[in-house]
Amino acid sequence: MKNKLLFCLLPFALTISLLSVAVGDDVRNKVDPKSLYARVGGQEAINAAVDLFYEKLLADERVNFFFDDVNMKVQIRKQKEFLSAALGGPEPWTGKDMRKAHENLDLREEDFSVVAEHLQNTLVELKLDHKLVEEIMTLVASTKDDVLNKPSEGKK
Ligand code: HEM
Repeated sequence: MKNKLLFCLLPFALTISLLSVAVGDDVRNKVDPKSLYARVGGQEAINAAVDLFYEKLLADERVNFFFDDVNMKVQIRKQKEFLSAALGGPEPWTGKDMRKAHENLDLREEDFSVVAEHLQNTLVELKLDHKLVEEIMTLVASTKDDVLNKPSEGKK
């Protein structure tokens, strides 16, 4: 009886484990191990960084008023998705482009610098390698013209 049960369940168990290996491989294969996403430590590291980053941002009176009417739970989720995609993560960014997302905020250079400074301090505090911090900050700087709604390079 015990043997019969084992024979009945074996094919199911095999199918399930094969399927989970295939799905796991699919997700893993989408991440380039050399990507910034992989090098910073993947989704968990990005989640921790974004949480700490918004703690700092919301405690800073130079910029926190921008978020007065923003649902921060949603904002934090979006920022995690955006950063993951920008660093080469497995899922694409499906939200607004950076120009559209910020076009009504009338942001200045100083606002951008404060935000960039908090992100940099967050990454340093989380003990990210100096070189990685530099690479991420270069990437963030590349969004500046869009975030500040300035004409992009080449279109001036
Ligand atoms: C430093 C580069 C920045 C990046 C990468 C960034 C990224 C984002 C992302 C991904 C969103 C969500 C877009 C969506 O709804 O689909 C967003 C929205 C927003 N960002 Fe930024 N942002 C940056 C700079 C700033 C700055 C400098 C400020 C203000 C100090 C700011 C304030 C906001 C606000 C208030 C929203 C919410 C807009 C809304 O829901 O109506 N961002 N940002």
